[in-house]
Amino acid sequence: MAVTIKQMISETDVDRRISEIGAEISRDYAGREVRLVGILKGASFFMCELAKRITVPVSIDFMQVSSYGGATESSGRVMIKKDLDESIEGLDVIIVEDIVDSGRTLAFLGEFLKNKGAHTIRYCTLLDKPERRVVELKADYSGFEIPDQFVVGYGMDFDQKYRNLPYIGVVQMDPEN
Ligand code: IMP
Ligand code: MG
Repeated sequence: MAVTIKQMISETDVDRRISEIGAEISRDYAGREVRLVGILKGASFFMCELAKRITVPVSIDFMQVSSYGGATESSGRVMIKKDLDESIEGLDVIIVEDIVDSGRTLAFLGEFLKNKGAHTIRYCTLLDKPERRVVELKADYSGFEIPDQFVVGYGMDFDQKYRNLPYIGVVQMDPEN
C-alpha cells in the first residue's frame, strides 16, 4: 500500500520542546542525579536528545517490552523482552517513552520499577494521546498532546520504518488506483 507522511510537528518545534523539558527536569532534580530508562526502540531518539539537555548528572539504561495478544487487539498485558542492565535500587528514575496511548505500558513499567527499589519514579513522554487512555496514567513530563492519529518519526515507526524522520508526521494511506 502506498503511504504518505504529512508533517504534524516540525523538527524545530520538537527540538524546542525537548529543550524546555530538559530545563524543567534539570530544575526539578537540582542537587540530585537522575537515571533515565528509555523504552526501546521508539524512545531512543527522544531520550538521547533529552539527555543532552539535562544539566544534572545523568545515567541511562533501556528496557524493551511488547504487548501480548493478536495483531489488532492487544490483551493489555505487557511482556518484557529486555530488562534493565543496571540496578535502580535507591535511584531517582525517569521512564522515557515516545508516546502514551492506552497507558498500559507505562503503568506496568512504573509498578515493575517500583518493585526493583527505585527511590522515585516519574514518567516522561514526547507525545500523549489522552483520548486513547484505558488505564489511569498521567505523565509528569509531556512534550505534546495530540489527537487520536497514528504518528511516525522521531523514533516512532510504522512497520519498522520512518523512525529516522527528524519531525513528527501522520501516516496517510493513499487509495490504490
Ligand atoms: P500504550 O501501552 O497503549 O500506552 O502503548 C504505547 C506504545 O504504543 C508506544 O510505546 C508505541 O510503541 C505504540 N504507539 C502508540 N501509538 C503510536 C503511534 O501513533 N505511532 C507509533 N507507535 C505508537
Ligand atoms: Mg514504544
